[in-house]
Amino acid sequence: MTGFDEFAEMERQGWSDPVISEGYVTRFAEMTRQAVPEIVALVPEGVAVLDLCCGQADIAAALQSKGCDVTGADFSHQMIEFARERVHGVNFVWADAQALPFDGHCFDAVVCGFGLMHVPDQPAALAEVARVLRPGGLLVMSCWEPPQRSDVFGTVFGAIMAHGDPSVTLPDSPDFYQFAEEGHARAAFAEAGLAHQERTVFDAVLRLEDPGALMDLFATAAPRGGYLLRHQPDDAKARIRAAVALGVQERGRQAKDGLWEIKAPVAINRGVRAG
Ligand SMILES: C[S@@+](CC[C@H](N)C(=O)[O-])C[C@H]1O[C@@H](n2cnc3c(N)ncnc32)[C@H](O)[C@@H]1O
Repeated sequence: MTGFDEFAEMERQGWSDPVISEGYVTRFAEMTRQAVPEIVALVPEGVAVLDLCCGQADIAAALQSKGCDVTGADFSHQMIEFARERVHGVNFVWADAQALPFDGHCFDAVVCGFGLMHVPDQPAALAEVARVLRPGGLLVMSCWEPPQRSDVFGTVFGAIMAHGDPSVTLPDSPDFYQFAEEGHARAAFAEAGLAHQERTVFDAVLRLEDPGALMDLFATAAPRGGYLLRHQPDDAKARIRAAVALGVQERGRQAKDGLWEIKAPVAINRGVRAG
């Protein structure tokens, strides 16, 4: 029990919504895909790996190319379907990260790309990671840097704060950005029996034809942004869109090919299960 039941329901509905899940796979994942080489580089070749919250399976595919024996797990049937269509030879399993259907000590590594922040009971999910890892096994997880350090997230959520209807709020949830803070990651890993080893940060870059399209991306391809933006009255939506477009022009840059580029820094945490 976490007291985050409404949040859990929002996440379940969001990731099983055909518009959000397809929008995520075809457009939002343009950003998350940039973390794949960074994550996969930390995993040794040829080991047994669980891609937790695998979504469209970009990480699973890259691990497979590295000779790993890969299992993918996700609680969205839509995402599992996308994954099975896109990547063959990986065992994709429907599973909630808070109660994994795997024996203990069966993976050498668990990777989790932008997944843990969507889970209501994060200590339970980390305890499950520790349970399924062999002693000495590796956890690699990515998450977004918070709005104050991110041009993409700062622009979108800053515009919602400044121009949105204040009565439209997200359900109570764990802090979405807390794993971007090394102190939190270290403490949460330790509670589950995982020793935090390293936090690195790199810039993912989003490329947009139209500066206003950043709002459309969050409205149609991400459960939290989608929830906050869809519930706004029309006049607030228009104000937010204008502010987001301006923010992209101020904080981003226009490349030679005319596309707008704006940064979304990513934090990657690595930990090891105690031997
Ligand atoms: C932001 S997407 C990340 C997808 C992919 N790993 C990537 O890097 O782009 C989050 C994924 O986590 C899944 N997810 C969210 N909560 C989950 C839970 N409690 N258990 C399992 N999967 C979950 C969603 O269905 C979605 O596919």
